[in-house]
Amino acid sequence: DRKLILDLDTGIDDALAIAYALGSAAAPNDADSMSDDSGSAAAPSDAADLIAITGTFGNVAVPLGVRNSLAVLHAFGRDDVPVYPGVDHPWAYDAAKFGPWTPSAGSVAVHGENGLGGAELPDSPRAAEPAGSAVDFLIDAMRSYGDRLTIVPTGSLTTIATVLRKAPDVIDSGAHITLMGGALTVPGNVSPGAEANISQDPEAADYVFRCGARTTMIGLDVTHRTALTRSGTAQWRALHTAAGDFLADMTDYYIDYYLAHQPEVKGCGLHDPLAVAAALDPTLVTTLGVNLKVDLDGAFRGRTIGDRARLTDPVTTTRVAVRVNVERFLDRFMTRITALAAK
Ligand code: BDR
Ligand code: CA
Repeated sequence: DRKLILDLDTGIDDALAIAYALGSAAAPNDADSMSDDSGSAAAPSDAADLIAITGTFGNVAVPLGVRNSLAVLHAFGRDDVPVYPGVDHPWAYDAAKFGPWTPSAGSVAVHGENGLGGAELPDSPRAAEPAGSAVDFLIDAMRSYGDRLTIVPTGSLTTIATVLRKAPDVIDSGAHITLMGGALTVPGNVSPGAEANISQDPEAADYVFRCGARTTMIGLDVTHRTALTRSGTAQWRALHTAAGDFLADMTDYYIDYYLAHQPEVKGCGLHDPLAVAAALDPTLVTTLGVNLKVDLDGAFRGRTIGDRARLTDPVTTTRVAVRVNVERFLDRFMTRITALAAK
């Protein structure tokens, strides 16, 4: 059986990614996961066992993201999933000099002060694992599960990069990393070149892309095509459950932010849930092999771009998603999360 770890800066769409993962585990053999709308051979079931969440920073600082992950798990009755806090600041940030890392004003505007668009969600009665424990947990998991494990980072790549730097043997463990971040073709969302997750720690992201680890990049190229509108959240509100109300309140805030600031997306981009969905079922996206690096200097700091030094290498370590089956993904997203929130 396949194992899944989410590395989150929980965040609105990170919370939706948790819900998607839990909904997928609850419905391993739904009709949709067994078929392909092109009429070709049936895709395998995409169920995976969510064995842990690790906490990174980005939309929020690590403590708040961990608090939110625990609360979301509790809301869906999954207090069995441990949450491990990760590295709490970028590699290039001097925490001894500047104090605890805090999110940018832009991140607070996108996700709200509580990271959940102001939607209320009670605290979990459960505590997180010890501060910083994510790094050793991830190293052990990669060594233990190898190619049965997929890790889905959807925030700053700092914890993952720290894992790969500390224990280089795990690079060849077979564990796959399907990350949300970057933009191959479209403008970024925090600067003309940079996407938010990569720009939170460009040095760490560059390390992940260039260290030889096998990655799949689910970037803005595809996530901006998967827009959710208020007709989707209305279905959750109509459930008249606490979980449905929470999901609708939280996501309506996100949709309104997008409509005001990025109206061309025509709803909110389902960035992090798409990364989970593609990790569970790679047939949802079409990928292109490109060896990437991250620009570290100047106006393009944080941009993901082809690495000239490795452009013609016979080995390609990153697959970049360039197409997505929008209809199939949105249908699966709504079906699984609505079923979860109905309980
Ligand atoms: C990414 O940045 C964060 O705001 C979201 O949670 C998502 O992971 C989109 O650029
Ligand atoms: Ca995120």
